[in-house]
Amino acid sequence: RTKSEDLKNIQDLARIIKQASHILVVSGAGISVSCGIPDFRSAGGIYERIQKTFSLFDPQEIFDLNVFKESPELFYSFAKEIIPRESTEPSLSHRFIRDLECHQKLLRNYAQNIDGLESIAGIDRVVYCHGSFSAAHCLRCNAHYSLDDIRPDIVTGRVPYCSFCGNRVNWDTNIHESSNNPSSEYKSCIDNNSSTDGEDEDRITPNIIKPDIVFFGEALSDQFFDCFESDRETADLLLVIGTSLQVAPVSKIPFCISAEIPQVLINLEPVGPSDWFDLELIGPCDVIIERLYQLLGWQHGMNHVGCF
Ligand code: OAD
Repeated sequence: RTKSEDLKNIQDLARIIKQASHILVVSGAGISVSCGIPDFRSAGGIYERIQKTFSLFDPQEIFDLNVFKESPELFYSFAKEIIPRESTEPSLSHRFIRDLECHQKLLRNYAQNIDGLESIAGIDRVVYCHGSFSAAHCLRCNAHYSLDDIRPDIVTGRVPYCSFCGNRVNWDTNIHESSNNPSSEYKSCIDNNSSTDGEDEDRITPNIIKPDIVFFGEALSDQFFDCFESDRETADLLLVIGTSLQVAPVSKIPFCISAEIPQVLINLEPVGPSDWFDLELIGPCDVIIERLYQLLGWQHGMNHVGCF
């Protein structure tokens, strides 16, 4: 792609933001690092910690759906390290995305993070590409749970099982342990399952509760594809902030929008193909964004009457 001649430094970026009205922001774990949440792939990040704790060939296996179904205790022995704490506050980068929205400049925030800080910052036009911890479902009967329902299990490292299903499958022996008191929900769960899965499938689908984060081996939501189908035509600026751009399909976004749209990377390190972005601002994103606030003449969270 031909780089824009008008986008050589952060002052140019501020000018383009002032003119833009359909900014697409792709964000990743780097924007939550200043909130005390480690990213995945940096030294000392989540994957390095998983690698040290478990003997896995690839630490990403902890987010693999098949591994989860076979050995949910693996994920749940680590999940307490990555669930959002109730006291965690959004970073300046989250607040900046919200301020873009308040200025009616945000087309969409494609967020890969599962910490939910976008919503706490008040961002409405967000797509949680990899889901979030805020809800969970039984793999077997699809019963809905909130994070608070399963938090006690998560913090003590236990696997949460569905209480609606009424019976727990003992996966070591593959024997169903019958409940003393099967509930009516249990019956409807089985009815639901038998109509779609059949009895064999019913027996092999564990009644584990899984947080609604997108594991490897799962499809992204229809919302992601539906939004991006229209956003790719409408965007007038792409900001990629705090992501290594290693996980598809989000990593493909820069290549799927029109080549004429200016693209800017704000990250601790260069990512993606060299020479791809019109402008790379390398450093801690909050520091770069603080400078952008100054150049835009915006105040944090105060710039649109009624927005907050
Ligand atoms: P990564 O850990 O792969 O990348 C984070 C990027 O942010 C790296 O390039 C860091 O250099 C950069 N970074 C770290 N601190 C920063 C800071 N203060 N300012 C600016 N940049 C900083 O995280 P993601 O790209 O978000 O999937 O990872 C994508 C997906 O991979 C995640 O959503 C996760 C994981 O598997 C699921 O959870 C399902």
